[in-house]
Amino acid sequence: MNPINQVINNKKTNINPIWIMRQAGRYLPEFREIRKVNPNFIDLCLNENLSSEITLQPLKRFDLDAAIIFSDILMLPYGLNQKVEFKKNFGPLLGELNINETLKLDEIDFVKKIFPVYKAINKVSKSEIVKNKSTIGFVGAPWTLLVYMINQKSPKKELKVNFFKDEYLINRILVILEKFLKIHIKNQIENGANIIQIFDSWAGLLSEKDLPNYVYIPTLNLVNYVRSLGVPVICFPRGIKNYKNYCEIVKPDVVGIDYDVDPLKIIKEIQIPVQGGLDPKILLTDKDNLKKNTLKYLEIFKDHPYIFNLGHGVLPETDPNMVDYLVKMVKDY
Ligand code: CP3
Repeated sequence: MNPINQVINNKKTNINPIWIMRQAGRYLPEFREIRKVNPNFIDLCLNENLSSEITLQPLKRFDLDAAIIFSDILMLPYGLNQKVEFKKNFGPLLGELNINETLKLDEIDFVKKIFPVYKAINKVSKSEIVKNKSTIGFVGAPWTLLVYMINQKSPKKELKVNFFKDEYLINRILVILEKFLKIHIKNQIENGANIIQIFDSWAGLLSEKDLPNYVYIPTLNLVNYVRSLGVPVICFPRGIKNYKNYCEIVKPDVVGIDYDVDPLKIIKEIQIPVQGGLDPKILLTDKDNLKKNTLKYLEIFKDHPYIFNLGHGVLPETDPNMVDYLVKMVKDY
């Protein structure tokens, strides 16, 4: 069994597998080369030859334990016919959601629109490079996708005023999301994904009273679905205040922690395997500081099933040599 699955299934504590959120991306010159001549990000995700190649780029450089497919959580609204663009120095920009059009969509239309994503997973999972490694498929959590679909851009620090105004619309979108997220997950698994990560990047925007409706219930539903397909699920509820409650209610196989979370508190509160935590900004400093901070996480989680990762995606300005140093240090620990 590959190292990440050993941590998840057998609760191994004597191995330290590592992968890095956004490991296939702009900090790699070989990615920027491809990106330069492929200005449309969505088209790039839908080019299975290039997207599978990009997925494998970091694994050719570093001894990582997983490939995460080069795609985006916003491929889901794209598959639902909402316009999605990635504007330089701005981030994602979505068109208006036409709920009546979306309601008419069926599984075949959706799968057809994003089919190359599944072909890319298939290619990656069959590649020699991922032998004895995990192939991670992923989705955005219903809440985070709802945020982008209604807000039409990154909310940064806050939601649109009147975000919750049309509760009827919100509930209809949540029903649609549940249906198509399950289809998206099933197709990723059928094509070789052997772990699913659910990114809830904007979980931290909600107050405690809104968590059950928008985070706990819809995510638990997906967690149960992934597990029914025999695959483990990692949840990353960034910015959530109470990880203990989250784990007790949503019951993921692994919980990903962000860089604002105190690992000493987590180790006391949480029994399930933990992933991540290291602040991506540490990779912008120097090797001594990187070593000190990496050792902190490795020491704290020494006797706990732990998958090394960052507390959010690797930053574009990161020097790949620092990533190399990090991966080697974790592997040699
Ligand atoms: O982790 C990986 O290497 C796999 C690929 C991956 C991407 N996006 C590629 C990408 C994954 C897992 C994601 C997830 C994703 N996408 C999330 C959840 C994780 C998080 O960061 O909180 C979110 C919120 C998105 C939405 C998104 N996509 C944003 C906000 C942006 C723009 C900001 C940015 O970092 O550029 C994207 C674009 C995006 N997705 C890029 C990549 C490599 C950059 C595209 C480029 O080259 O310009």
